[in-house]
Amino acid sequence: MNVRVPAKINLCLGVGPVRDDGYHPLATVYQAVDLHDEVRATGRDDDQITVSVHSEMDVRSEISVVPDGDDNIAVKAARLLRERTGISSGVDLSIRKVIPVAGGMAGGSADAAAALVACNEVWGTGLSRPALEVLAAQLGSDVPFLLHGGNAVGGGRGETVSPVLARGSYHWVFAMAHEGLSTRAVFAEFDRLNTGAEVPEPVVPDALLAALRAGDAEALGAALSNDLTEAAFSLRPELEDTLSIGIEAGALGAILSGSGPTALFLASDEAHSLDIAFALSSAAGCADVVQSRGPVPGARVG
Ligand code: C5P
Repeated sequence: MNVRVPAKINLCLGVGPVRDDGYHPLATVYQAVDLHDEVRATGRDDDQITVSVHSEMDVRSEISVVPDGDDNIAVKAARLLRERTGISSGVDLSIRKVIPVAGGMAGGSADAAAALVACNEVWGTGLSRPALEVLAAQLGSDVPFLLHGGNAVGGGRGETVSPVLARGSYHWVFAMAHEGLSTRAVFAEFDRLNTGAEVPEPVVPDALLAALRAGDAEALGAALSNDLTEAAFSLRPELEDTLSIGIEAGALGAILSGSGPTALFLASDEAHSLDIAFALSSAAGCADVVQSRGPVPGARVG
């Protein structure tokens, strides 16, 4: 059983004041993009759950830092599904990684979403999508969206996903950094930088929603925003140069993806995206450049 799952980007990422549980309220618009991990699930005769991780792009994916065994989020997903359905079957999970690890594109969350879908099929547990979404929210803030895919507004700590009216297909260029950034560390830096300041409740900008409704790439580029930018720059000053290079190359918009360090650039068409990718390919802070499209569907068998 093979499940393909996309990466996500945040077209806007509004971050509010830290909550009592340590999470931050978010107002975001997610888009699933054409950069996929694959999770293969094979049923076992015993009750073991194993995981192996493979990549043809070792530099980008830093797969050596992906946890194995019970610490792997795909294994946690399988265990959670087993607990909730009361079965005792085992499974071998094999993950083919393409989404950068700790890149701000929800690579780990994607594998959790894919593992839920794959194990639900292999074990014949028959949970509905809404039931899987409840489990997804317990695994991580981005996991429910990766079941959904497309475009969606994210609220709560990111786990509540609601539909958004959107048109158009967009050309993206992603600049992957040499080394990942911990999401937790970037949020902690956000808190440190805002010590003593009144952080407002986050909102999704109207201009962004209007651009998506119209399918207007130029307006969307101008409306891209990310409240974690300053915190990520503080931890990785060279990211500012990466964004500048893409802007100089004529990108319609440039922001960090989620908590970074992946930078994303919006292009008007395929040729434009090639120009931007070419300009970025010689940037010192850039380990890899990828052209992509969005939106795409969420985790799917296939
Ligand atoms: O939900 P997830 O496990 O993916 O989040 C990873 C870490 O990112 C959390 O432990 C928390 O430190 C931070 N985070 C946050 N606010 C959010 C989402 C994540 O502070 N809305």
